[in-house]
Amino acid sequence: MQILKNASWIENAKDYGTVCPTFRKKFAIKEEIKSAKLVITALGVYEAAINGEKIGEFVFAPGWTSYDKRLQVQEYDVTKMINSENEICVSVGNGWCVGRLAWADRWGLWSKEKALIAELEINYSDGCTEFISTDETWETAKSAVQFSEIYDGETYDSRVVPGDWEKSAVKAHSKDVLIPQEGEIIKEQEILSAVKLIKTPKGENVIDFGQNLTGYLQFTVGGKTGDTVEISHAEILDYDGNFYTENLRSAKQKISYICNGDFATYKPHFSFQGFRYVRLDKWPTDINLNDFKAIVVHSDMKRTGSFECSNPLVNQLYRNVIWGQKGNFLDVPTDCPQRDERLGWTGDAQAFIRTATYNFDVEKFFVKWLHDLKAEQHEDGGIPHVIPDPLRDGGNSSGWADASVICPWQIYLTYGNKVLLAEQYESMQKWVEYMRGRGKVEELWNNDWHFGDWLNLDNPDVSETPEYKHLIGSAFYANSTSLLIKAGKVLGKDMSEYENLYKRIVKAFQEEFIKDGAMVYQTQTAHVLTLHFGLADNKEKIAADLVKLIVANKNHLATGFLGTPYLLHVLTDNGYSEVAYSLMLQEEFPSWLFPVRMGATTIWERWNGLNEEGLIHDPGMNSYNHYAYGACADWMYGVMAGIQIDEAKPAFSHIIFKPITDARIDYVKASIATKHGLVASQWKRNGDKIDYKFEVPQGCSATVIIDGETHEIGAGIHETHN
Ligand code: BGC
Repeated sequence: MQILKNASWIENAKDYGTVCPTFRKKFAIKEEIKSAKLVITALGVYEAAINGEKIGEFVFAPGWTSYDKRLQVQEYDVTKMINSENEICVSVGNGWCVGRLAWADRWGLWSKEKALIAELEINYSDGCTEFISTDETWETAKSAVQFSEIYDGETYDSRVVPGDWEKSAVKAHSKDVLIPQEGEIIKEQEILSAVKLIKTPKGENVIDFGQNLTGYLQFTVGGKTGDTVEISHAEILDYDGNFYTENLRSAKQKISYICNGDFATYKPHFSFQGFRYVRLDKWPTDINLNDFKAIVVHSDMKRTGSFECSNPLVNQLYRNVIWGQKGNFLDVPTDCPQRDERLGWTGDAQAFIRTATYNFDVEKFFVKWLHDLKAEQHEDGGIPHVIPDPLRDGGNSSGWADASVICPWQIYLTYGNKVLLAEQYESMQKWVEYMRGRGKVEELWNNDWHFGDWLNLDNPDVSETPEYKHLIGSAFYANSTSLLIKAGKVLGKDMSEYENLYKRIVKAFQEEFIKDGAMVYQTQTAHVLTLHFGLADNKEKIAADLVKLIVANKNHLATGFLGTPYLLHVLTDNGYSEVAYSLMLQEEFPSWLFPVRMGATTIWERWNGLNEEGLIHDPGMNSYNHYAYGACADWMYGVMAGIQIDEAKPAFSHIIFKPITDARIDYVKASIATKHGLVASQWKRNGDKIDYKFEVPQGCSATVIIDGETHEIGAGIHETHN
């Protein structure tokens, strides 16, 4: 049944320039009501209120989907908000749909105009129902929001009270794209207080919130009528301690507020920022830190994971991973939340997804995103670089487009979601077929342009060559084919054709990329992908060679986006856990702990976001809140604490506990709230022994593997010593 069948799309009839419209409808109810429900969505982002009270907790509703194919509709129970005389008001801002997106000058990618569609269903006690639907009788006026853009911030004139109401214009936007709300709603999640006021060397007044975050500033101000507030947002201070915004590129992240003479508390309506610091460019009164709060906003995903160990820097790294996820899971998995990008980059999402599923319950979040991915997939099976796709310039990079296969498979593993696997199967298969058809031979993807091992630190004379990227292409082709086979088998399909193809891929890969038992390309990532994807027969030699490369690099990693998520796993899987721990505990550049030592509170995009002296890397592409390298946290859960999924019995119905200890760590404890209940593991040094404790939820079982010895346990808490 079509959603909002009787309602019409409406817009403001006159051009309001950058000012956001407010739509309103006054109505009275006839008698006592039983219930009232508002069904609503917009082209743009909306905020709705009845009788002055905001409806629901969803911010930036209706969220971000591939709007030309799927536009979510929200339903709110508004029974308690209805009086005898009522006024419903809805303001609409540009958001992702109408505003500017991505670095080039791209505007109005899904719609040139903001529009609203809504219907209020009132059920009376006598059994009658009345519908109040958007149509030309709804009125429009300019709101106090003078300007609002996702990247650029907001201008709000609190002196404006919407007046000069005029009729709305009915427009013929599609209703076929309307779908019920599918993802998590986006919500205000936490409020952080200001930590300190800094007077910078340049004389700027800067407030530090102590945490790089995504959301918006809320302030209370009592200026005279016409006084203005102007505030800028930044992630870091520069080497000299001054406010630094160059890495935002063209994103302005600025708030302007015009006072009306009353004390008022304001926060932006249709814009969010990535920031730790705010600079008070104009502030009309004395500065009181209590007047400033940072509101953290992200998708309403439940926290599921916890991790702690005896090393405080590793604990801070884990916290940074969590904040990286909070900051970048705002309806779609974005690369970063601050510069003129904030896009659903597929490569970043596939690199981080396992960690993401342990940290938070992201099942619904990814179901929605993967449905968009499927909707955006090209006829020929190709996948855009970002989902939803405002770039519209192709896609199909190895390691990025493979999100189409890796992500549904991980959602199946962590949550046991077979329905999603069935829904995505065709899309997964189309991507594998795309790769199959692109190579110079069927068994290798030795063709086409690819991002490669993005931001790696290996020798660029190797790692940036097309030939090397064809190793990566072929390795991911093999991996996605192998995952497709697994998915097909779960769904009861005959996968013999792909099994046969897979064998041929592995053989061709070995012939092309392994010569005389050694990898042709001497990069860490070439070894990591070959081992992790099971592409070498001589695993021992390839693993030993990887260790040699790491040792030659003085126990430092050199991997980029594609090699990093698997690096530590490959080492521990092949008997080099001490080397893996050395990489995890490495504090010198490049390493995971180097940014922590430099004061990071989120994960940086680059290993060298700052150098040892604290100098900032080239501002062109340098985000300080990019979750991809945070993919190491799944090794913390899976190896340090040893909590692993059994692929044959997903969703932790059978758990594998295989903690690997290290002399440099005294204790580890971690847990994951799974579909079946809490799974927990901890170990602690006790003299020359180690005490272990495992928790298995009701109805589940586990295999414990410690120092090569295996035993089976059932539900409950189990302690053992070694
Ligand atoms: C993004 C990345 C992304 C990449 C493609 C960048 O601009 O921030 O995280 O994956 O482009 O390589």
